[in-house]
Amino acid sequence: MNAAIVIAVDGPAAAGKGTLARRLAAELGLPYLDTGLLYRATGRRVLDRGADPHDAAVAAEEAASMRPEDLARPDLRGPAADMAASTVAAIPAVRAALLDWQREFGRRHGAVLDGRDIGTVVFPEAPVKLFVTASPEERARRRWLELQGRGVAADLAQVAAEIHDRDAQDANRPVAPLRPAEDALLLDTTSLDADAAFAVAMALVRERLANF
Ligand code: DC
Repeated sequence: MNAAIVIAVDGPAAAGKGTLARRLAAELGLPYLDTGLLYRATGRRVLDRGADPHDAAVAAEEAASMRPEDLARPDLRGPAADMAASTVAAIPAVRAALLDWQREFGRRHGAVLDGRDIGTVVFPEAPVKLFVTASPEERARRRWLELQGRGVAADLAQVAAEIHDRDAQDANRPVAPLRPAEDALLLDTTSLDADAAFAVAMALVRERLANF
């Protein structure tokens, strides 16, 4: 298999993109990048400074000076980090600062990248683009279960509201909004478990790569 192949996995929050993209990468022997971590780490650094994630100058500065170890911080998930990530992600200068980093990662050895704009902006020429969705109720349920699994007490209705607000912010921003690329393959995982979603995705990937 061509080592420089890039696979884009986009979709709304808690659709199962990360689990799927990680498994595709392992199966195909490609590096994996969770691009949401870049925005999460930027948002976290802005919060650490006591600044507002809407502050474009501060957020852009933090995005530009981020270090790889910031991506391994244990505090990048949770309601405050989720919303701070989505808020800094709407700032054009933040996205610009993180773009080359993502492109270099993918170009080096090929990669599977998951995010919101991989197929539309970061790698519009990717030979395989998946847009992974699930119903809002199912996504909220999965995120709630994930929180439970980490020992975080959460209210299902509140989790659903947070996901709704974040998706609305991600889909309605002017720069690189959440949307499927024209040539993306849509994968609705509402009634699929992780194994079934992986099997369907793998079949789609193999079909696309056979013609590549
Ligand atoms: O994938 P995630 O939920 O970890 O992403 C967190 C936030 O980062 C998400 O709400 C929007 C933003 N994001 C983005 O704008 N573009 C990406 N490629 C990945 C994430």
